[in-house]
Amino acid sequence: MNLRTQIAEAVRYIRKHTATVPEVAIILGTGLGGLVKEIRKEVVLDYDAIPHFPVSTVESHHGKLIIGTLGGKKVVAMQGRFHYYEGYTMQQVTFPVRVMSHAGLGARTLLVSNAAGGMNPKFRRGDLMIIEDHINLQGDNPLIGKNDEQLGPRFPDMSEPYSRDLIALAQKVAKDLKIPVRKGVFVAVQGPNLETRAEYRFLRGIGADAVGMSTVPENIVGVHMGMRVCGMSIITDECFPDTLAPVTVEEVIAAANKAEPKLTAVTKELIRRL
Ligand code: HPA
Repeated sequence: MNLRTQIAEAVRYIRKHTATVPEVAIILGTGLGGLVKEIRKEVVLDYDAIPHFPVSTVESHHGKLIIGTLGGKKVVAMQGRFHYYEGYTMQQVTFPVRVMSHAGLGARTLLVSNAAGGMNPKFRRGDLMIIEDHINLQGDNPLIGKNDEQLGPRFPDMSEPYSRDLIALAQKVAKDLKIPVRKGVFVAVQGPNLETRAEYRFLRGIGADAVGMSTVPENIVGVHMGMRVCGMSIITDECFPDTLAPVTVEEVIAAANKAEPKLTAVTKELIRRL
């Protein structure tokens, strides 16, 4: 079955529950689900029930698609995302983006968040970083295979993967809210292991400020379909090769939870001002 038919079937199911056309699609990263509480919810759908959505494994209780209102705008939000390291294909990881987009439910703006390791020596745990650009080191790409020209071009331009306007707006919003923000380059790796010291040195050397295991596939598919993308990372651990300390996923999640209110505040106000 081709991709557009799959999108249409997923949309048909969602449309049985709501006629709302969201303006903004939101993907919430690990430990960063707090924004969900702020959404005035119209419908909450389990991923498992949506045709062609990947079947989730461990995080099944988190897999929910939420449609409602936030900052005065209609939004669709993913509580829980699919990671490449879980064994999904890049096409599966990014299918929900297609469904939320104007090829599906209608969103033309995509806001993505993640928990990331900070490699820029100026960064500290708990910092909020606006993603300015990215490097794809996942060794795969969601656009590999036959291209559907109705969804987007074969060779999408990547000169502005993250909307300059949204970066400027996010910075302005953060300033007005008196929330300090960093700006930087995000590199996506496969995971699931964290990086070695030598790898951090390498990733810093090629120009990255933060590292994580998500976001880039969703960005690429968003760009493919002409969405405006804004990405934000919460720095959950300090990945400085010369002073590297062990980290656990519990620590990463705790740091994300702690810094999450900053992300929620900026995101909500950003949406209000779109
Ligand atoms: N690498 C290192 N630290 C991290 C990551 C990662 O991918 N994600 C969150 N903290």
